[in-house]
Amino acid sequence: MTQVDQLAAGLSATLAELRVERDLLGGILGAMKEGVLVLDPDGRIAMVNPALREMLLLPGADEVVGRPPLDVIRHAELQALLGRARREPASEELDLPSGLKPRRLLVHAARLHGEPGGLVVVFVDVTEIRRLESLRRDFVANVSHELRTPVTAVRSAAETLRGGAAADPEARERFLDIVDRNAERLHRLVEDLLDLSRIESRELRLAPEPLDLAQVAAGALALFRERADKRRIRLRAAVPADTPPARADRRALEQVLTNLVDNALKYCPEGAEVTVGAAVTPSAVELSVADSGPGIEAKHLPRLFERFYRVDAGRSRDLGGTGLGLSIVKHLVEAMGGAVRVASSPGQGSTFTLSLPRA
Ligand SMILES: Nc1ncnc2c1ncn2[C@@H]1O[C@H](COP(=O)(O)OP(=O)(O)OP(=O)(O)O)[C@@H](O)[C@H]1O
Ligand SMILES: [Mg+2]
Repeated sequence: MTQVDQLAAGLSATLAELRVERDLLGGILGAMKEGVLVLDPDGRIAMVNPALREMLLLPGADEVVGRPPLDVIRHAELQALLGRARREPASEELDLPSGLKPRRLLVHAARLHGEPGGLVVVFVDVTEIRRLESLRRDFVANVSHELRTPVTAVRSAAETLRGGAAADPEARERFLDIVDRNAERLHRLVEDLLDLSRIESRELRLAPEPLDLAQVAAGALALFRERADKRRIRLRAAVPADTPPARADRRALEQVLTNLVDNALKYCPEGAEVTVGAAVTPSAVELSVADSGPGIEAKHLPRLFERFYRVDAGRSRDLGGTGLGLSIVKHLVEAMGGAVRVASSPGQGSTFTLSLPRA
């Protein structure tokens, strides 16, 4: 082998090794969920990985390489972070624009080893984690707030009784009644919260079976006849007998219907009408609870199924509500593989529709 041959063989081996390394690096960057941005010593973009392009909806690699990062990601705080990182590693959480809603990104920037002046910047998407944290904080705040009212009522009633009201039979009855009602309210709140947590942790074992909806609807309505008559509200079962069976858990579906009919009766004025009906689509059976009540303004509809969400908190509380009913409905229906939606407008009544898989 001549010297030239040896050189050529050596070079091609080195090239092959480089190619393997390049492919490996490309593979790693391509598979990462974190976004990666590399800047060259002039501070221009040397590389962005696919995850970062997706996170920030950046154009293709050919369009961004060679450009200053601020051209591509307009963000003053990011620019400042990159400036600091030239001296020492820097991290910060930033809200970066991405499509319609900003994403919350944890950004780490540090000097690139072996490339003086170069920077490597890693972006971790923490939008979802932060959203869940704030949901949990709100939830705890809401629960505490809901518990406080009845607890305060019980305590002050007990105090009043001890302070002498117990001696007066009429006052005693009144304050015992307050204790009773608020204890009942606490009990319901705790039960509802336990239900929600059981459904969410999937501890609640659902046993879906083919169910005859006309029968389930009639059973649920029977529980409300007396209450409806008292308020002169007409309850109508309008589920055709030939409605195909749905696949659902009997107790869960009864709880869902009970919640919806309870709402209709609570929020409708005297003389209103509440109808439980059904419709069939190719893959689902729909069960609806429609009322001719006050209806709900459009701005409330997107949040109606959230925990503790009430259109009129004062009114709902007076009626003994905690604002958990519809969130339990949504969780239960989804646990059965179905969906729930609402159509309503002020003065036009409300219709809640459950879509359940066909058996
Ligand atoms: N049929 C309806 N007509 C008008 N408003 C309704 C109707 N159903 C629900 N709402 C509104 O939606 C809110 C949320 O309902 P949800 O059942 O979750 O809570 P609640 O009835 O207030 O309390 P809970 O069901 O826990 O006792 C209610 O406070 C009410 O303002
Ligand atoms: Mg309710």
